Formats: sequence, C-alpha cells, structure tokens
Amino acid sequence: MSNPKKLKVGVIGAGFAGRSHMEGYSNTENADLIAVCDVGEERAKEAAKKYNIPNVFTDYNEMLKLDELEAVSVCLPNIMHMPASVAALESGKHVLCEKPLATNAEEAQKMVATAEKNGKILAMSLNFRYMSTSLTAKKIIQSGKLGEVYYAKTAMLRNNAIPKGWFHVKEKSGGGPLLDLAAHVLDVTWWLMGKPKPVAASGSTFAKLGVKGKGMGTWGVGYGDGPVDIEDMAVGLIRFEDGQTLFVEVSWALQSPPTQYCNIYGTEGGITVFPDFVIHKEPKLETEMEPDQDRISEFVKNILEGTKPLGPGEDGIEVMKMLDAIYRSAESGKEAVI
Ligand SMILES: NC(=O)c1ccc[n+]([C@@H]2O[C@H](COP(=O)([O-])OP(=O)(O)OC[C@H]3O[C@@H](n4cnc5c(N)ncnc54)[C@H](O)[C@@H]3O)[C@@H](O)[C@H]2O)c1
Repeated sequence: MSNPKKLKVGVIGAGFAGRSHMEGYSNTENADLIAVCDVGEERAKEAAKKYNIPNVFTDYNEMLKLDELEAVSVCLPNIMHMPASVAALESGKHVLCEKPLATNAEEAQKMVATAEKNGKILAMSLNFRYMSTSLTAKKIIQSGKLGEVYYAKTAMLRNNAIPKGWFHVKEKSGGGPLLDLAAHVLDVTWWLMGKPKPVAASGSTFAKLGVKGKGMGTWGVGYGDGPVDIEDMAVGLIRFEDGQTLFVEVSWALQSPPTQYCNIYGTEGGITVFPDFVIHKEPKLETEMEPDQDRISEFVKNILEGTKPLGPGEDGIEVMKMLDAIYRSAESGKEAVI
C-alpha cells in the first residue's frame, strides 16, 4: 500500500504559540514539519533541534521561497499577522493564523481577499471552537432545541495577568485584552449564536492598572518589553441585525477574582458552555458530548481533504468589525455603527 500524502508545513514564530503549533504538527501523522522561522535565531534553532526540523530561517520571506513548503502557521505578534499571512498566501501557501486574525477589519479583509485570489485556505487558530463543550453546544443550538437564541454573554476576566513581552505594547499588539482575549470568547459566543450580522456596538475600555505598574502577570516570555500603553479592561454590548444582543467583558488586570463564562439564551432553553457545561432546559435534554478536536490536525485535514475550516478567515473579518466598533465607541462615547 502506498504511503498517504504528507503535507509539508512550516511555522513562523517560535515563541509560546509557535511551539504549540510545532507540537501539534509533530503529532499529526500526515504532516511533515520542514521549516521554522524566528528573528531570534537561537529560539528557531532550539525549536528545530527539538522537533527535528531541517530548515531554519530568521526571515520569513526567505522561508516562503521554499517551493516544497505547502502551508504555514503564523505565530507572530498580532501586528505581523497580516503582512506575514499575506506574504505566505501570495507565495502559494495555505495559512493557519493565530488569533486575533488581524489588528482591525481592514487588515482581515486584505488577508481573506489574498487567500481567495490565490485559492488557498486561511484558517484561524481558535482553540475555543474546537473544545468538546463548544462543539456540543453548537450541535444543540443548530438543532433548534434552544429555540430562538436572542441573548448571550461572555467574559474572560483575569486579575493580575498583563502578559510580559510585547502584548501590552500597542505598536506590537495593536490592542490589549479586547484583541487578545475577546478574540477567543467573543468569537466562540458569536459563532454559537449562529454568526448573526453585527450592526452596532457600545463599549468602554480602561487603562487604570497597567499604566500604574499594577497587574503584571507571570505569563508571556518577557523579551521585547516596552511600555504598558494599552487598555487592561474592556466591555462591549453588540447588537445584531435581528435584535440579538451579546455582552462581552475582558480584562488582563481587574480588582476581581478570575472569571470566565459563556452563556447562550434561547426561547426554549439555554446553555452555559463554560466554566461548566450546563444545559438549562425542561424537560431535561439528554445529549452525548462531542469529542474535542485538534485545530492543527484539522487544518492539515482541511488542506488534504479540501474541507472547510471550523474557523475560516471570513469569520475573522466579522469579529474584527465588532472589536473595531467597541474601540470606536469607547473613544467617542457613543454607539458605533458597524
Ligand atoms: N490560541 C491561543 O490560545 C494562543 C495562545 C498564545 C498566543 N497566541 C497568539 O499567538 C501569537 C504569538 O504569541 P506568543 O505568545 O507565541 O508570542 P511570543 O512572543 O512567545 O512569540 C512570538 C515569536 O515571534 C518572533 N518574531 C517576532 N517578530 C518576528 C518576525 N518578524 N519574524 C519572525 N519571527 C518573529 C519572536 O522572536 C517570538 O519568538 C499572538 O498573536 C498571540 O495572540 C494564541
């Protein structure tokens, strides 16, 4: 029997996320990890040694010249997601981009248009969509068992968790927890609601603790430090075309215990997706839990089998529009039209 085709993949950015992608590809039978790139040469070499990667680069444009390379993960600071993904797509590679897809909707649109022009997949690395609880909730909501879904609320409130490194430096991250954390929880909640069309948002952002040197966390790498010049907390209320509404709150630093929730409310029932999975419905709904999926091996499968990603780039445009509108509203003090 002939060997099944192996997809030749590379990873751009060998930091925290990059290493998790390398681990993922290493554990994916039909992926062959052939290249890694990081401006930190030592970091790239270390990763290459650990994962047995033959080609090491410090410039992703050089890496993208490798003809045999078919797909890349973009695991760079947010501000580089657009240029690196566009360069990869233009050179004919499929792209799995870390969240947030971009730093604004305009960049996201450019990425999606480039993927379409080149006939390549642009997928987002949205681990929350691949969780057993999210996949199970999605199935229940799609089946109509919750009736009409009209309200949802979600939060990821961290208290002393301003990441070290580039995350809090606006020119490298493009945004604070609104980009970093809402890219997960707003995304998964909107997806569970059935991806309604956003029409307006109201929001506030606060930079109260980080700018005073409070709230620094232990997470993050610690290189490339700069000023904390970004919000450490944000809240938004998003209205959708048919009146559905979504409330989101996220923080890196807040005088609060850490809190995380995602609740979806319908006319026939509701679901708490996290922190604990609970179906609120009478009579009680018997359901089998869907298994967790792996975002890395699913991306490889999408390419090899021609299937659509669970987190396609197009969805990133809508999420970025909502986040942009919250920032605009916070700045103007008025509701922002989307
Ligand atoms: N899905 C998740 O749960 C998750 C978790 C962590 C991070 N992320 C996302 O992954 C991305 C990276 O975050 P991280 O925590 O890995 O950051 P990191 O700082 O650990 O890693 C980034 C790496 O990019 C390298 N780099 C910077 N500029 C480069 C360039 N021009 N060319 C090549 N390499 C370059 C840095 O040297 C560093 O090694 C961010 O967008 C973040 O939001 C997602």
